[in-house]
Amino acid sequence: MAQEARCVWQARASLGEGPLWSPRQDAVYFVDIRGSRILRHGLSDGSQAGWELDDAACWLVESAYGDGFVAGLRSRRVVRLRLEPGQAAAVGEEIARIEPDRPGNRLNDGKADRDGRLWIGSMDDAEEAPAGSFYRIDADGTVTKVDDGYTVANGPAPAPDGRTIYHTDSAARTVYAFDIGTDGSLSGKRVHIRFGEADGYPDGMTCDAEGGLWIAHWDGARVSRFRPDGTLDRAIALPVSRVTSCVFAGPDLDRLFITTAAHGRQDEPLAGSLFECDPGVRGLPPCRFGTSSR
Ligand code: BGC
Ligand code: CA
Repeated sequence: MAQEARCVWQARASLGEGPLWSPRQDAVYFVDIRGSRILRHGLSDGSQAGWELDDAACWLVESAYGDGFVAGLRSRRVVRLRLEPGQAAAVGEEIARIEPDRPGNRLNDGKADRDGRLWIGSMDDAEEAPAGSFYRIDADGTVTKVDDGYTVANGPAPAPDGRTIYHTDSAARTVYAFDIGTDGSLSGKRVHIRFGEADGYPDGMTCDAEGGLWIAHWDGARVSRFRPDGTLDRAIALPVSRVTSCVFAGPDLDRLFITTAAHGRQDEPLAGSLFECDPGVRGLPPCRFGTSSR
């Protein structure tokens, strides 16, 4: 492992997750699901800010219309959200309600794609039953279940070709690939990567511009890049074991920010910090919810 990551914010997130690069705000946002916080790291000035929420956000993306964010909440609702400096987080219109009949579930990871849709997963909050599903939410708010049987649904990652999406069941240590049809339907589910015990669990993921897939290793203390054919290319070591997700950021999309979790790892001094490394490759621009970002 040649490259190393450096700590940029000792945020002590209990469950840091879902990093998002906002070019408009020149900042990386991420959620602390267990800590019920959203955190913001300003790129050019290194500023740090945070908002507390009553109903924890499990992920957030930007709205395509420049009117704030869209977030998935622990209560399985997808809502509009405003985050203004120095003000309380303001939850707005509800876009969708997921699984009203599954109170034991919560939302987990979610991402927008370049067609302005959302891809989101749910999971058993106790991480025991395969009660979670994978959903697509179209720009008009229509919710479609596209797969089920997940214990811990994680890391949806659209590939640069717009025709493939990766999605994980962390508990099964398996990353799946699907083909995306022109209408957003999924087909051809297949095992793309399987983690062994020594690798920990595959958590959040993101694709780079060359189609490489960067996967955070929960209980594996690293982020790995896999080539489009699923073979391991390289890994970046972290000084904490619970690595949760990563995102490309910066005007040139050439900086990789990595979130981590302190939950269950209080003995690790840097657990829950935000890290940065030089990935040596560029990422894909962030996608927003609501319209085509092409
Ligand atoms: C979930 C955690 C889970 C972890 C590893 C995260 O995305 O939010 O609850 O423990 O993945 O499976
Ligand atoms: Ca995750």
